Amino acid sequence: MSEISGSLYDQIGGAPTVTKLVNHFYNLVAKDPDLKPIFPDDLTETKEKQTLFLTQFLGGPTLYTDTHGHPMLRARHLPFPVTAKRAGAWLLCMEQALQCANIEEPLRQIIFDRLTLTAHHMINQWDEETGSPS
Ligand code: HEM
Repeated sequence: MSEISGSLYDQIGGAPTVTKLVNHFYNLVAKDPDLKPIFPDDLTETKEKQTLFLTQFLGGPTLYTDTHGHPMLRARHLPFPVTAKRAGAWLLCMEQALQCANIEEPLRQIIFDRLTLTAHHMINQWDEETGSPS
């Protein structure tokens, strides 16, 4: 029985690991000076949605879509100013959270790389003069 078969979700240990990851992540977000201002003070609902989303993103059950419909993640982020700086801060929190949740290599790097692509796709605010991500 190979230990490297199955979805990323199964390989990291399923629901308990995703819950740990999300809790660590939002504890860091709540302390981050760049991210804190654009998130609600009460992160309960945000955490619930992210748990559903990451479950699905990692190849587990399609909980987010079943509950909230198509993720349309970029569109759902448009009300919030996502700058390159905030994407970097988001990824730094996630990098730490992946470690705190004891997700081992190489899975940690595979997941982080996929999240990096998605985070860059979320950037929706650019420097007006240079056109580079602000
Ligand atoms: C690039 C930096 C990012 C920033 C600054 C950011 C910020 C935010 C903010 C402010 C919200 C709204 C929170 C709320 O009102 O509850 C949100 C929601 C959400 N974010 Fe992000 N986000 C980023 C990247 C990502 C990435 C990479 C993912 C997925 C891998 C993601 C997944 C989600 C999900 C699933 C929601 C909930 C959407 C909903 O159903 O309303 N975000 N994000």
